[in-house]
Amino acid sequence: MPTASRDTVVLLPGDGIGPEVAAEARLALEALVPEVVVEEHLIGGAAIRATGKPLPDETLEACVAAAAVLKGPVGDPEFDAADVRPEQGLLALRAALDAYANLRPAVLDEIDVLIVRELVGGLYFGEHGVRDDGTVYDTCEYHPHQVERIARRAFRLAQSRTGRLTSVDKANVLETSRLWRRVIDQLAPEYPDVRVEHMLVDNAAMQLATTPGQFDVLVTENMFGDILSDLAAAVTGGLGLAPSASLSDGGPGIFEPVHGSAPDIAGRGVANPTAMLRSTALLLEHGLGLRAEAERLSGAVDSAIAAVPTPDLGGTATTAEFGAAVREQLSVDERAGATYRA
Ligand code: NAD
Ligand code: IPM
Ligand code: MN
Repeated sequence: MPTASRDTVVLLPGDGIGPEVAAEARLALEALVPEVVVEEHLIGGAAIRATGKPLPDETLEACVAAAAVLKGPVGDPEFDAADVRPEQGLLALRAALDAYANLRPAVLDEIDVLIVRELVGGLYFGEHGVRDDGTVYDTCEYHPHQVERIARRAFRLAQSRTGRLTSVDKANVLETSRLWRRVIDQLAPEYPDVRVEHMLVDNAAMQLATTPGQFDVLVTENMFGDILSDLAAAVTGGLGLAPSASLSDGGPGIFEPVHGSAPDIAGRGVANPTAMLRSTALLLEHGLGLRAEAERLSGAVDSAIAAVPTPDLGGTATTAEFGAAVREQLSVDERAGATYRA
């Protein structure tokens, strides 16, 4: 029986490096918010091995009842040729929670891009199959309502930042992209303080790689956002640093790294837990409404990046050493805060 409640964070460690980075996130979360109840459940390959399903019913029920979901990556080469794949559990969870607004910030020096990725539509959720003649197909579909709700999110986020919105599509080829462009143009007059531009996705990839500093908020459909967010991570320090928040219109959000389960380094204790810790900071802010704690965690993570970088950043720290440095910084802050208040 699920016991999760509105005071509970459901932690889904996932596969590969997932449990390694999730352990550090849990310790940091419990250090910052001792009253939080963290409940772990299975998802992905670990869940298939234990139950045959990538998203067991009890995991989904706990997520639905929780305040927020903190998730490690899923995916394991063991299931590459299997009918039931770990990633299906993640897609089903996003759909079940209607977590359509995927915010993927990428920040470094003068670069501060926020990718707003539509997360529960498009090619990943369209009809797919095999025709009698052997043709294999996936279909990309969007209803205007799905475009409107993600576009409004992006407009509002642009208003809260520097007021620039780049809508990325492939309107020179795709009907769904022409719909996307129409909806953005129809909404634009409602947000006169936002400067909107449209950009074709191939050019957007080139611009992100060469002059990422030009972008503020970038809104796009599911698959383009998937690809561009790895690129944005690459130009802002690497995949080990990139967090995300997947939000619905009121239910629990899912907070998870942009990166995957990294089978090439799993089990060695060298994964960078920053993306998972920054996702925890997004959970504190957007999931629990604890903005000050979110800022404290972000600051402590930045200090650890400077002091004890992991191998992907050119350092030698292990995942556990990095996590310990984050908690040490949190306790230094705590003591300084206590002295100040006294
Ligand atoms: P990946 O993101 O797992 O790894 C790409 C490269 O980045 C690898 O060299 C890896 O070692 C490195 N990397 C990633 N995270 C790192 C970290 N925290 N610290 C240091 N290095 C890190 O991408 P992939 O290899 O294409 O995918 C592996 C599996 O992950 C696949 O099964 C895929 O479906 C899955 N995946 C899951 C999610 C998710 O659950 N949200 C996201 C992306 C990929
Ligand atoms: C991501 C991942 C997932 C996605 C996969 C694992 C389903 O690549 O979160 O970026 O495509 O959304
Ligand atoms: Mn991805």
